[in-house]
Amino acid sequence: MTIQHIRKAVFPVAGLGSRFLPATKAIAKEMLPIVDKPLIQYAVEEAIEAGITDIIFVTGRTKRSIEDHFDKAYELETELEARHKHELLAIARGTSPKGISFGYTRQSEPLGLGHAVLMAKALVGNEPFAVILPDDFIDPAMGKVGCLSEMVAAHRLHGGASVLAVQNVDRSQTGSYGIVSTTELDALNERVTGIVEKPKPEVAPSTLAVVGRYILAPEIFSYIENIKPGAGGELQLTDAIAEMLKNKSVIANRFSGTRYDCGSKLGYLQATVACGLKHPETREAFSAYLKKC
Ligand code: G1P
Repeated sequence: MTIQHIRKAVFPVAGLGSRFLPATKAIAKEMLPIVDKPLIQYAVEEAIEAGITDIIFVTGRTKRSIEDHFDKAYELETELEARHKHELLAIARGTSPKGISFGYTRQSEPLGLGHAVLMAKALVGNEPFAVILPDDFIDPAMGKVGCLSEMVAAHRLHGGASVLAVQNVDRSQTGSYGIVSTTELDALNERVTGIVEKPKPEVAPSTLAVVGRYILAPEIFSYIENIKPGAGGELQLTDAIAEMLKNKSVIANRFSGTRYDCGSKLGYLQATVACGLKHPETREAFSAYLKKC
C-alpha cells in the first residue's frame, strides 16, 4: 500500500486571544514573539521541516498581520538591500521560503475547533493533512526533529493511520484537553480506542491529553459535518475523531519535545525563557542574568 505524502497543514488562527489583552487588541495573538520570532512562525517552520508545502490558515478579522508576515515585504527588502544589510534581508525573506504556498480561508463565527477545520475542506481536498494549533509551542528535544516530523514517521509506520500528539498531564488538568483511552502498540505509539473532550478529572478515562498537533484522514470532514455541538456548545474536533475511530485507525504519538501552552501567560513566559536560553544572541547573558535572579 502506498502511503500518501502529507503536503498540507491547517492552522486555525481565528481565535480572539482575549487571554492576552490588551496586547492582542490590535494584533493577532499568533504574532506574539518568543524572543524574536512570532509564535506562528515556529509552527510554520515545524510544518515545513515535516515536509509540508501547503500552509492553510483558517483566519478571521483582525488577522491581517499573519498574511503580511508570510508575504514579501517590498519596502523593507528594498531598504535593507540599499543599506547592504544582507543578514537581516535573509531573515526578512526567510518567512516565505521558495516552494511553500500560503492559502487563506476564513472562519467568520467562533463555532469551535471542528468548525474551524471544516472551513479548510475545499483547500485540503481528498488527502490526509496535518492540523497545528500554534498556541501549543513544541520545542524539539536536543538533537531530535520537531513534533510533526515525529508524527509523520508514526503515520507512515502505521499504514497511513491518523495520528494525535499526546502527553501525560496531571489528573487535575484533564478538563482542559481532549483525553484519549488507548491500548499499547509500540514504544512511542498507542492505538486510540476512545477520546473525550475536556472531561472532569473524576470521569477522565486516562491522563493522556491531546496537544495541538493532528494528522487526519480526509474522511474527518464528513464526520465533522455530522456531529452536534459538544463541550462548550462548540463543534469539537474531538467528537468527530471519536466517531471516525469506529471505522478508521487512530494512533496516539508520545512526542519527544517539550510543549508550552502559549495560550496562557505562564506557558508563554516559560517558552520565552526556554528559547532565550537557546538563542545564540542571548543565551550566555540571559543564563547569567537568571542565575542572579
Ligand atoms: C483544543 C482541543 C483539545 C486539545 C487542546 C490542545 O482545546 O479542543 O482537545 O486537547 O486544544 O491544546 P482548546 O485549548 O482550544 O480549548
